[in-house]
Amino acid sequence: MANILIQGATILAMKGAEQEIKDGEIVIQGDRIAAVGPCGSIPANYRADRVIDGSGMVALPGLVNCHTHAAMTLLRSYADDLPLMEWLSQKIWPVEEKLEPEDIYWGTMLCCLEMIKSGTTTFADMYFEMNQAAVAVEKSGLRACLSRGLIGNAPNAGQALAESIAFIKEWNGRAGGRIKVMLGPHAPYTCPPDYLRQVVEAAGANQVGIHIHVAETTDEIEQIKAGYNQTPVGYLHHAGLFELPVLAAHCVHLDEADIEILARYQVGVAHCPESNMKLASGIAPVARLLEAGVNVGLGTDGAASNNNLDLLEEMHSAALLQKVATGNPTVMPAFTALSLATTGGAGVLGLDGEIGLLKAGMRADLILINLQRPHYYPLHNLIANLVYASQSADVDTVIVDGEILMEGRRVLTMDEEKVIRETQQRATRLFGRI
Ligand code: NI
Repeated sequence: MANILIQGATILAMKGAEQEIKDGEIVIQGDRIAAVGPCGSIPANYRADRVIDGSGMVALPGLVNCHTHAAMTLLRSYADDLPLMEWLSQKIWPVEEKLEPEDIYWGTMLCCLEMIKSGTTTFADMYFEMNQAAVAVEKSGLRACLSRGLIGNAPNAGQALAESIAFIKEWNGRAGGRIKVMLGPHAPYTCPPDYLRQVVEAAGANQVGIHIHVAETTDEIEQIKAGYNQTPVGYLHHAGLFELPVLAAHCVHLDEADIEILARYQVGVAHCPESNMKLASGIAPVARLLEAGVNVGLGTDGAASNNNLDLLEEMHSAALLQKVATGNPTVMPAFTALSLATTGGAGVLGLDGEIGLLKAGMRADLILINLQRPHYYPLHNLIANLVYASQSADVDTVIVDGEILMEGRRVLTMDEEKVIRETQQRATRLFGRI
């Protein structure tokens, strides 16, 4: 593994809003960051195998996408402008039945390609045929938390849980530690109490966390209230879920008691503003969650309900949406939005201490953004520019675990044209009309 030295970049270490280092150096030794600081920070015995000129660029921790369904890239723009339940039951689920294992591989590759090109270095995925997804992640060089989606009221629920346990044994910690496996019970409305108890037991026995959709729509709130006289959060609490590390996607409709539970059990919330807007699910009370001390990160959700996997855009939307929802333009400052996409996401996935900050000892997961673009000038405030004006095409270089995945916008771990061609051919076979 090569030692990489990045010189001359402006560094946003994300340790605090004032911690901007101009003309800085990042010293990478193998898969870890050895030093971050102004010019002259290189340790005496360090020898770089590669020097990257970072002048005119900003270096920041790689972005973390806390909730997606990677292979749903194959379903991008296949069904739009529908309510969630109709969208799922009449459009998405019938097509998903036709997906073959190799489709999942190529759909995940397309997702990884799009994320690398827009600055994401870690993502949390929930889908099926996860062995295929894991192979794609390993090849792409990204870091991922993978979970097989479990529909507890489906006929194959028991078999799906058994496959999940086998998947943990085969893949948890693989790809040099870049792959982490979680259990993925789909949602409170698809997982009855008995099934959730089996999932909790299996997660505890295998020492993994849980990834689940929670309180996404008012329909869900009504359904869980009618069935169990509880909120979705209360229902999951009662099933013992929060005794384990939990990644809860959406959390749009919450009451104060729910927020108190999420804070007390340190549940990680994946806020997905664009998917929530597109499906008209509602607006998650993110400012209130942060005030209550809940860990919040950002997610794109799948490409079928967004319709891209661009976390820079998600960060922008998250900031604007809280402002319009609360009528308060100060409620989510730019630094908070950038924190959700980096340190926040790392905490939500239980990877704080490993990723999300640029400092010595952390994994070398970082991106360089090219500031030589008209929309960054004049450069009054770098952080505000990144949150409110950046575009994914500005991401120049992406490094994960000390490996360069993209340099000068050229992706080094996969054949970009082949990924696009394969996914188009597969979509044509699946839908027969493109
Ligand atoms: Ni989702």
